[in-house]
Amino acid sequence: MNNIVLCGFMGCGKTTVGRNLARKTGRKFVDMDAYIEHEAGMCVSEIFEEYGESGFRDREHEACLALAEMSNLVIASGGGALTFEQNVAAFRGKDNIVLLDVPLRDIKLRLKNDTKRPLLQRPDRDRAMEELYNRRLPLYRAAADITVRGESSPLKTAYAVIDALEKKKNKPV
Ligand code: S3P
Repeated sequence: MNNIVLCGFMGCGKTTVGRNLARKTGRKFVDMDAYIEHEAGMCVSEIFEEYGESGFRDREHEACLALAEMSNLVIASGGGALTFEQNVAAFRGKDNIVLLDVPLRDIKLRLKNDTKRPLLQRPDRDRAMEELYNRRLPLYRAAADITVRGESSPLKTAYAVIDALEKKKNKPV
C-alpha cells in the first residue's frame, strides 16, 4: 500500500489525526519530526540551536527521501517539510499527500502556549505565524492531492480523510 502523507501548518493536527488514520487504515504511523530526532539523537529544538534551521531542513530532506522509500505508512510531516519542492517530489505520484486545512484563528488558539516549536519562540509570535501561514498555504495546496478540513476532532478528521481518498480512487483519472 502506498503511504498517506499529512501536511499542513504547525498545530493543524497532523500527528493526532495521523495516529487515528493509521489505526483505521491498518498502516504504521510515523511522525517525521520523531524520525528526525531519532536519527539525530537530539530533539528538534536542539537541532535548531546547534545547526540552525538549515541544518534541520537538511535532516528533514533526508527523512523525506528515506520515508518515501517505505510503504504502508501514515506520515505526519513537519509543518515546513512540504513547502520545499524537493521534499514534495520525493512523495509525489507515489504517495497520497493530504492537506489538513485549519483556519489561522484555530491554529493561533491551539499554539498559544506552545514552548516546543523553535519558529514560534519569539515575542511577535502572532504576527510571525500569520506571515508564515499566508506564505505557506498556497505551497501546501500545490503539494496536496486532496484537502480535508481539520477543525473537528482527530477521529472525525481521520474518517474525512478516508472518505476523500475513497472518492479520489473512484474518480476517473
Ligand atoms: C516546523 C514545524 C514542526 C517542526 C519544526 C519546523 C515548521 O513540526 O518540523 O519545528 O517549519 O513549520 P509540526 O508541524 O509537527 O509542529
